[in-house]
Amino acid sequence: MTTIHDTGLRGFASDNYSGIHPEVLAAIAAANDGHQIAYGEDAYSARLQEVFAEHLGEGIEAFPVFNGTGANVVGLQSMLPRWGAVVCADTAHINVDEGGAPEKVGGIKLWTVPTPDGKLTTDLIDREARGWGDEHRAQPLVVSITQSTELGTVYTPEEVRAIADHVHGLGMRLHMDGSRLANAAASLDQPIRAFTRDAGVDVMSVGGTKNGAMLAEAIVVLNPDASEGLTYLRKTNMQLASKMRFVSAQLIALYEGDLWLRNARHSNAMAARLRSALDARIADGTVSGVTFSQDTQANGLFLTLPEGVADRLRETFRFYDWDEARREVRWVCSFDTAESDVDRLVELVVAETGN
Ligand SMILES: Cc1ncc(COP(=O)(O)O)c(C=O)c1O
Repeated sequence: MTTIHDTGLRGFASDNYSGIHPEVLAAIAAANDGHQIAYGEDAYSARLQEVFAEHLGEGIEAFPVFNGTGANVVGLQSMLPRWGAVVCADTAHINVDEGGAPEKVGGIKLWTVPTPDGKLTTDLIDREARGWGDEHRAQPLVVSITQSTELGTVYTPEEVRAIADHVHGLGMRLHMDGSRLANAAASLDQPIRAFTRDAGVDVMSVGGTKNGAMLAEAIVVLNPDASEGLTYLRKTNMQLASKMRFVSAQLIALYEGDLWLRNARHSNAMAARLRSALDARIADGTVSGVTFSQDTQANGLFLTLPEGVADRLRETFRFYDWDEARREVRWVCSFDTAESDVDRLVELVVAETGN
């Protein structure tokens, strides 16, 4: 097969638009020869348990899956009885971007809470964490937070710990959607363990795909008392890979050494470069009508643009509207975003909005 896409095409639409990191691609090739037992009894899936235990300590269990929606829906199901519900931010991926899979596939009611920045707090959780024993109310038994959030913000370890203590005090469990966990670790400059297991998270989804892998995510159980039946639920939910060695090999390539951190540091740094370049031009008046709507703490930027500007920028770089009514857009940097991509986007914004 010959290459059939334009390899010069680049953009800021999503960290899913990039390809596979060469070291991950090499890991897939390295795992390719000979036969291995299917459905997870292979040498790579065994090694992956050790790799995650090196990050998170003994007693954890990792379940490789194909995608982040699957990781969230299967992980949450394992934390809840049939009557259980999940409290989450209204911007949570499980609420707005999973096609209703938590409800339709998982049978899980979501109790959603508006937040200013994608982050739950104990007060916000309390708006929906109520009504236990009322048979008319789906029982809130899990809180799900996203790290880094869908709005590009990051919880500190102390914030996660405060939520975990509160949630556990209410007899609930804490789930983390860690699709961009690496970006959060890079932003905080903390080991993954500091804001997950050590901060009281019970079950989490660990991302791979957005950070250089292809079809590779994992559910990681940090507290075995908070999750039941994952072995069966993963299969029932169609997330059990027969050739699991190739999913596991990708996650090993990322998490065994420091590739996860290098990639995340790079995508965060590109977002910071974009933010500081535009902040400087907003301050000196060479850019006008552009307002950032969220802090830039990881690899995503949220901003409002003057009428018509987004569409003209999209003639060069693809990206998504976030809130069309407010003319808010989202830009996401990837592990392979180049400084030249960032600088070109800044030039275009200056050309479109400058006086
Ligand atoms: C916060 C968050 N969680 C999970 C996912 C994973 O979703 P997918 O099922 O597309 O891999 C995404 C992807 O956009 C996401 O942004």
